[in-house]
Amino acid sequence: MRIRHLTGAAGAALLLAVSAAAHAAGPWFVRFGITHIAPNDDSDRPPLLAAGSKVSVDGDTGLSVAIGRFLTDHVAVEVLGALPFEHDIKGAGSIASLGTVATAKQLPPTVTLQYHFSPQAAFSPYAGLGLNYTFFFDIETKGALAGTSLDLDSSWGAALQLGADFRLAGDWLGNVDVRWIDIDTEASGSATGTFDVQIDPWVVTVGVGRRF
Ligand code: NI
Repeated sequence: MRIRHLTGAAGAALLLAVSAAAHAAGPWFVRFGITHIAPNDDSDRPPLLAAGSKVSVDGDTGLSVAIGRFLTDHVAVEVLGALPFEHDIKGAGSIASLGTVATAKQLPPTVTLQYHFSPQAAFSPYAGLGLNYTFFFDIETKGALAGTSLDLDSSWGAALQLGADFRLAGDWLGNVDVRWIDIDTEASGSATGTFDVQIDPWVVTVGVGRRF
């Protein structure tokens, strides 16, 4: 789902950015959170492995930070950063018995344009649309694939977001945020051949933030 998601989101994000840029600058916000990445994963068959083989990608939980800025009363732009997430990659389908065959770390920086429906209210929901870039590093093969090479391409894709801020004391906010991110990678390995892996995770964050 790589190219279609990208162009649709980029076009919509650009339209929002152009219409928002004409307005005066607003306040900044920062959020620190615990983020869980829950893949909706699937893969093509690795061509060098048995018929019916696939891989699956496990989730991970880590720390994230989001920094944003209101462009108008209701429209904000936000950048999501995080410490690296680490995922186990496991055999699936006919090779499910292999268990973990690799681990990979990734960073998923994401820019979203958000519409905040009632930004002054104690309960302030918002929706966002944006662009994610995910890159993989420290890829290590294990178990049945130990000693073989494995590479995972970077991914560009759309990010959809729904969340809400809850006013706490002063300028502090509680926050719950759910994103769906279109992350797909091409895997190439000396023992697997080249095949596509869809990760397309739910990314759920609970945290605290502050306006300033
Ligand atoms: Ni996809």
